[in-house]
Amino acid sequence: VGVTMNTEMEFSFLEEGFSAKDIVEQKIKESSVTDDRDAFYVCDLGDVLKKHVRWMRALPRITPFYAVKCNDSLSVLKTLASLGTGFDCASKTEIQLVQSLGVDPSKIIYANPCKQVSQIKYASAHGVKMMTFDSEVELMKVARCHDNAKLVLRIATDDSKAVCRLSVKFGVPVKACRGLLERAKKLGLDVIGVSFHVGSGCTDPKAYIQAIADARCVFDIGNELGFKMDLLDIGGGFPGSDDAELQFEEITAVINPTLEKYFPADSDVKIIAEPGRFYVASAYTLVVNIIAKKVILDEDSDEEDERTNEKTVMYYVNDGVYGSFNCILYDHAHCMPTLHKKRKPDEVRYPSSIWGPTCDGLDRIVELCSLPDLQVGDWLVFENMGAYTVAASSTFNGFQKPDLHYIMSRPAWQSVQQISSQGMLPPAEESSLFEAMNHVMYPNVFPFSIALKIPLYKTSRPVV
Ligand SMILES: Cc1ncc(COP(=O)(O)O)c(C=O)c1O
Repeated sequence: VGVTMNTEMEFSFLEEGFSAKDIVEQKIKESSVTDDRDAFYVCDLGDVLKKHVRWMRALPRITPFYAVKCNDSLSVLKTLASLGTGFDCASKTEIQLVQSLGVDPSKIIYANPCKQVSQIKYASAHGVKMMTFDSEVELMKVARCHDNAKLVLRIATDDSKAVCRLSVKFGVPVKACRGLLERAKKLGLDVIGVSFHVGSGCTDPKAYIQAIADARCVFDIGNELGFKMDLLDIGGGFPGSDDAELQFEEITAVINPTLEKYFPADSDVKIIAEPGRFYVASAYTLVVNIIAKKVILDEDSDEEDERTNEKTVMYYVNDGVYGSFNCILYDHAHCMPTLHKKRKPDEVRYPSSIWGPTCDGLDRIVELCSLPDLQVGDWLVFENMGAYTVAASSTFNGFQKPDLHYIMSRPAWQSVQQISSQGMLPPAEESSLFEAMNHVMYPNVFPFSIALKIPLYKTSRPVV
């Protein structure tokens, strides 16, 4: 404790009675005794486990292939590999990363419809067969560079209500599928199924219904042309936290009966998905420090009356849109902090804005919010920061990425091991045990040492 655990190879055990919030407090306390108040993350790997249990209970027919692009931290990938998920890789580097953990190639889908030739060759040489396509040119490349490809045709969806649209770039309309499938047949390729993505941050469950129905049409065409269509990939789009506009269970309530209608359990079709955000968003809490502050007084206001709202405050913190908050630009995220210190309910609040540390005017995290008068050195806490944040952050202007602290409770860890060795979900009573860990009250006195640093478990065993 007190040592920065910046590596992604380790996590700390959370001792009984403590939660991720306690670790946030502990780290804040540790750095507050110095001027080194760098931004940091706390990631609760138990939350990733919780999500997996939630997924398997709600969608028992669908094997998740985690979308590595969303957050490629080794600790998350190792946890998921131990839990037996598959992986959606977008590139050679992601394939390399996942295979370095001992993941079997059959558990990887190369889910990028437009691939560089050398990377198709890499997949071929490393046994990765499943890959998506949505054009004739891609089929020709695969025919040339991959002897055993198992191709999955990506179809377009109505993603007009998604936060991040993807069908503007990828996916074939159903009416163009026959021509492509005929071409694949002529080239001697093996098409095994259909994939789609309803757009990331889906807000309309009907998008899944239409896409699954469309996939059924394309399955029928493929079967008619002599392909053995037996893989349906329903992509991502699932929410990562419970404050999302559309709840996970609202989506699963729609998906399950739709699958039953178009791909009944006895149809021998394997169903997979590519969730990204769902698994990691809520596991990560980002804590930033106020490094500068500017008070703008309203010129018309009475100076005597400074305690009224006649001033606005600009706060500058040590992570911004070129770092973790790139999600504001790329992922259309709306980030709002919580205050770390307890405040008096009657404390005066001022219209405030929050800015990142770089010299760019674009580097703004919150345009307007209401905050009490905070000081340089105070902390702000941003929850649900695990998806599309660290994965795409830069060190622009020389600002280093925040340290990452990984934690897991002992019951959660035991559960991971059990799932890993027996392939079984814990009984409902046990999963409530590790879920409860996150909701314990703050202790009055924080013990000096609550975390025991241990090496992350090995995943050399082939993952089943
Ligand atoms: C092909 C593909 N699959 C899966 C995902 C993950 O989507 P989400 O984070 O919405 O689950 C993405 C995100 O861009 C994607 O492009």
